[in-house]
This record gives sequence, structure tokens and C-alpha cells, in this order.
Amino acid sequence: MSGPYTLIATAAAGLESLVAKEVKELGFNEVNVENGRVTYQSDALGISRSNLWLRTADRVKLLVGEFEAKTFDELYEQTKALPWESFVPENGAIPVVGKSVKSQLHSVPDCQSIVKKAIVDRMAKKHGLVGKLPENGALYRVEVALLKDRATLTIDTSGEGLHRRGYRIEQNEAPLKETLAAALVELTNWRPNDSFIDPFTGSGTIPIEAALIGQNIAPGFNREFASEEWEIVPQKLWDEALTEAEDVANYDQPLDISGYDIDHRMIEISEKNALEAGLADLINWKQMQVRDLNPATPNGYLIGNPPYGERLGDRKEVEQIYRDLGKIMNQHPSWSVYIITSYKDFEKVYGKQATKKRKLYNGYIRTDYYQYFGKRQK
Ligand SMILES: C[S@@+](CC[C@H](N)C(=O)[O-])C[C@H]1O[C@@H](n2cnc3c(N)ncnc32)[C@H](O)[C@@H]1O
Repeated sequence: MSGPYTLIATAAAGLESLVAKEVKELGFNEVNVENGRVTYQSDALGISRSNLWLRTADRVKLLVGEFEAKTFDELYEQTKALPWESFVPENGAIPVVGKSVKSQLHSVPDCQSIVKKAIVDRMAKKHGLVGKLPENGALYRVEVALLKDRATLTIDTSGEGLHRRGYRIEQNEAPLKETLAAALVELTNWRPNDSFIDPFTGSGTIPIEAALIGQNIAPGFNREFASEEWEIVPQKLWDEALTEAEDVANYDQPLDISGYDIDHRMIEISEKNALEAGLADLINWKQMQVRDLNPATPNGYLIGNPPYGERLGDRKEVEQIYRDLGKIMNQHPSWSVYIITSYKDFEKVYGKQATKKRKLYNGYIRTDYYQYFGKRQK
């Protein structure tokens, strides 16, 4: 089957609209935004392009079918009625994972076994095999997701989550997911020619994502995807997508991106990660505490993921950091400032009300993204 396929780009809560924007920018049609996911139509090449290019999506899944199922029989029969053999070859490995929310079929292990049995029964019959399938080929990870008695059956095209770009060889204790870091950059009006500072850089995720965006480098260029092994996405399509990515990358785009941290070990880690990302000397890394920050050029963008002070005893220190940052940035009104934190009184301590706030989840932590728009100076 050469398509068209319905793809589902999954998104963390709050990032759906950004994922949809990226999907549209890649030229896909029939884009629908739902809670936690964006669906769209694609050909086989689009499976490679989606995986290579989507910066803020968690995964790309291929939709096999959706139907209502309130009993195990319904789940079995309707799963068996789907054309699995059009996606999965005879020797494909088909582990089944599942989830169930607000549904009568709430035993996830049972749903998984039933779906597995239905697929195996269907495939064995189509391929003229008896009972078991060899399952010694490429990986086709099937998911059965039940929501309010509606089953969605998908196959994961990504393999590891898309946040695993392949450049993070070391990290600090609270790194941002690369997908969220990219989202923080996309939510600003930063353009590649503008100065950019992350004063709490940790393992360097935000500056690295900004540099990839700035030079239009595909975030998935240095990793592999499950669907690279799939018959329905032949190697020549991956080659085509990679060549396109190489052609449109703008390695000549000058950047003025800096990452600072009070901890010199973080700076060493950031340097290693940037090197791994192929960005070698593109980012200015420096050990510096926020108190000493002094932006040299006007009209820049500061994007930071500071400590949140969630641990008892850290509060005073964190408040001092926010207060220092507020005082410094108050002297640089042409700069736009973007801070993600779960600290409720951020604006009060920082000393200024944000122009805009946006609710975001950093993993399971509910945070706000405080946005202060600078007044551009000529
Ligand atoms: C939540 S982590 C940032 C994680 C980072 N976004 C990443 O993806 O790895 C906060 C960072 O702020 C740094 N930090 C703490 N106090 C600081 C200060 N006064 N000035 C600058 N950096 C500070 C910590 O060393 C830590 O690396």
C-alpha cells in the first residue's frame, strides 16, 4: 500500500497548535488538531519527512483504524477486519502496547493480548501460515488506545521518541525535553539574526534547539527511526528526505546564541552536546551566574528554564535569582524575556507583569511560560 496514510503526530498538552503549525509548514493536508494529537494525510515520503522535521511532536504514528469497542469480541473482530498485511510484512515484529481512559474495556493487558491475537490470526491467514508468525523482521510497534470506548489502532513510525535527537550525550539532573525546548523557541518572535541568551543553560538544550532552528537543520538528521526498516517506506524515500534536508539547511546563517550557567560542569556538558549536534563553535558557552549577566547588544531574546524552587529550602535562592534577573532585564527594555517556571509568584518577585502567559507542562510539572515583549530600539 503506497498511501495515502493518515498520520498522527502526538503532542504534549499545550503544544498541539505548534505541532499543527509545523505539520502545515511541511505542506501536509487535512490537518486536524485534537487533544494531544494532530492528524493529517501523507504519502510514504511524508512519513520520513515528518520524523526528520517535526521539532515539537513526541512521535509520529500511522493510523490503521478507529472504531467503537465495548466488548472484547468487538475489539477482536474489528481489529481483525483491518488490513494489517498492507502495512506489516510476514516477518514483522508486532509488539502491542495499550492504554485505556474512561472505557468499558479497562484492562489494558487483556486489550493488548486480544489485539495481538487478532492481528496474528489475520496475518497468518493472509500469508498462509499456521498459528505463529516468525516476528524476526523490522519493528512495527502497535498501540491500542481506548478513549471513551473508541479504539484507535496505530503503528509507531518513530521508534525512540522524537525528543531523542541523538546529540544529548550528557545531561544535568533536570533537563528539558528537546521537543519542549524547541517549543519555547518557536513561541517567541526570535529570528536567526537576533541575539539570544539562555542564562540557565544546564545541558544546553535551549541554545542547541535554537541553533538548529536558526540554521534550518532537521532535528532528526542524526538519528534513526523505526520506519527506516519498513517496506512501505523504501530506502530511496529516506534518501530523498535526507537530501532535501541537506539542501535546505542554511549552514551559512550567522548566529549570536549564548548559553550560560553558574555551574562550570554544565558548560562542559553543553559544549559536548553541541559538538555532537554538529554545531561545534556556533554557540558561545560561558560559566556565569545570572547576577553578572549584561547583554551587550539591543533587541535580543532571553529564554530561560531556571530552577523552580520546588524543593523545600531552595525557595529563597530561587527568589533571589528571579529578583536579580528582573533588575538586570529592566535595564534592557529592548530585550524580550521568556521564562518557564512552576513558581507561582514569579511576576511578583521578578518585579513586572508578563505581557503574556501560557500554560505548559514540563513533564508532569505544571508551569507557566512568562513572556515579556521588548520594545525594539532602532
Ligand atoms: C532547570 S536547570 C536548566 C536545564 C536546561 N534547560 C537543560 O535542558 O538542561 C537550571 C540550571 O540553572 C543553573 N543555575 C542555578 N542557579 C543559577 C544562577 N544563579 N545563575 C545561573 N545559572 C544558575 C543550574 O546550574 C541549572 O543547570
